[in-house]
Parts: sequence; structure tokens; C-alpha cells
Amino acid sequence: MYRIRVRGVGSFDCAPDETIVEAGHRAGFGFPVACRNGVCERCMGALVRGRVRLARKDHTIDADEAGASRVLYCVAHPLTDCEIAVPDVTAPGHIPEQELACQVMAVEPLNHDVSRVMLRLPAGRQVHWHAGQYLLLQHDEPAAFSIANASAAGNRELELHIRHSEDNPSSLAIMERLAHDSVVRVTLPMGVRYLDHVPQRPLWFICGSTGYAPAKAMLEFLREAGCQQPVRLYWGARNREDLYLHEQAEAFAAELADARYVPALSDHPEAGFFHGMIHEAVLADLDDPKAPLFYIGGSPPMAWAVFDALVAAGVSPGQIHSDVFDYAPR
Ligand code: FES
Repeated sequence: MYRIRVRGVGSFDCAPDETIVEAGHRAGFGFPVACRNGVCERCMGALVRGRVRLARKDHTIDADEAGASRVLYCVAHPLTDCEIAVPDVTAPGHIPEQELACQVMAVEPLNHDVSRVMLRLPAGRQVHWHAGQYLLLQHDEPAAFSIANASAAGNRELELHIRHSEDNPSSLAIMERLAHDSVVRVTLPMGVRYLDHVPQRPLWFICGSTGYAPAKAMLEFLREAGCQQPVRLYWGARNREDLYLHEQAEAFAAELADARYVPALSDHPEAGFFHGMIHEAVLADLDDPKAPLFYIGGSPPMAWAVFDALVAAGVSPGQIHSDVFDYAPR
């Protein structure tokens, strides 16, 4: 068995009697193919390191030979461990992005500045996403919104939670458009911080405002998967009304096997709510910093502030996930 590393994507094992495309597909990698017979050149890529045998021509090729930049992997068998570079190969679990026209089904207020928007995907299209991913709503500038519901077979509904306010004119323009257009174009799924299985360790979700949306999708996924791991949901806001689906968050805590919901209010204390910043609520409960995985949803300043507080408390950066780290790095 040889190890095949696809540059920038990942690695898999390949036996000498199978082709690199066959082994890649078996391991869940998406190789671009058409003929699978060494004719169409769809699977062509470079051999960066190692040696392969090309079954169709029955000759071998080394990484330092001239033909190494144009290897057809549907007919290539490894003779050593190899590193290859092939355009458009996708890693296991990757769902290709699609741009689609969606019907606007409903726009309803959840509080004074957050609305729930329901979109319907076109019939007859297979569209999946992982819990925690987001979409781009095509507008003057594409706008990113977390998908607030988990993907399920036959489900064509997409739920978004959109915050709109006078200090964010583009959010008002988007709401105006959603109120008047019956169809919008979206690109999905986006983002690499998601749940596609139940990790075997505690999961802590830390959200501010509409950062609840991706947490909701992941909690739905965990509930459907029968998650038995300890789950904690920390949702922070200035006042009670900003926790716009508070009762739903309470219901998640009741429905999951081992879950607790901690609502936190920074400005207006109320009985039954943690009073303070969201990271203070988290740190108050953090007995074993190395145990949980953390999923942060919220604005970039909020997400990075929570990240800093967790790392200062002994959490490893690798335990902390947030899309913010991808689209708003520092
Ligand atoms: S798939 Fe056609 S050449 Fe490989």
C-alpha cells in the first residue's frame, strides 16, 4: 500500500493494483473524471514526487521526467509513495458550491432588529450543506449569512437570521430587497468550520446576537444524530429581547441528552440570566480547558475577544472554531 498526498487537499492509501483515481474515490476524494480510460484528460495533473505506472501505455514515469506534469491518474498505479497536484480535487466531506435561484417564502421579525428569512431551494436539485456553513446572498456586494437550519433529505428550506439597523445601511438594503423580490440568487454551501459527525468530546457553542444561527443548525444536527456528548450553549446579548429565540434555546437544552443553556446579559441584568460578558460566563464554567471543542458565532470583534479569553485560560487554538477566523483574519 502506498501513500498518495494530493497537494493542498489531503492523503489516502492506494494499493499497487488500483488506480490513484479509484483509491481516491474510495477514500472519499472527488477527482474530476469522465472517461476513466486515459482518453479525455479530465483527471490530468502533475506528479510532484514519486513514481507511477501508466497502465494504458504500460510504462513508468518519475516525478523528475518531462511527462510528469501531464499524468492521467485514472490509469496511473503507484510504484512508490507519491505527491500529486491535480486541479479541482475535493477533500472527503466537501460539498461543491452551487449558485441557485431561491424563492423568498417569508420574512418575519424575531425582535426589533432581527428577522427570520425563509428561502426555498429549486425543486429537483440535490442541495446539501453541513451544519454551521453559510451562504452568499447575491446583492450589490455578496453578503454572507449563516444557514440557521441543518440539511435534511427532501428539505428545500433555508433559514437565515438577518440583523438590520440604521447603522448598517447595506443590511437595510438587503431587507428592502427581500421584501420586494420573490426570487434571490444564493451561492452555497460556504465555510469550513462545520459539523459533519458527532465529535467524541464536549461541545461548547458561544454566540453573540445572530451568531446563534449557525449554533442552531449545529444543535439541530446533534439532536438528530442522537449526540450523547455534553453540550453547552452560551448566548450573550445586551438585553433579554436581543436573545430573539430564547425559548427555542431552552428547548435545545431539554431535548439533547446532556445539554445546558446559559443566557448572558451584559447591560440589563435579570433573574435567571448570567450578568456580564459572554466570555465571562464561559470562563466561570471552564474547569478543564483542554476538554471541549468551542464553536464561536458572532461579529469579528466578539469572536476574537472570546478566542483571546479562551487561549489565555489555557485552551489550545486548535480547539476553537469560527468562520470569522477565515473571513476576518487578523
Ligand atoms: S478520466 Fe478521462 S483521462 Fe482520466
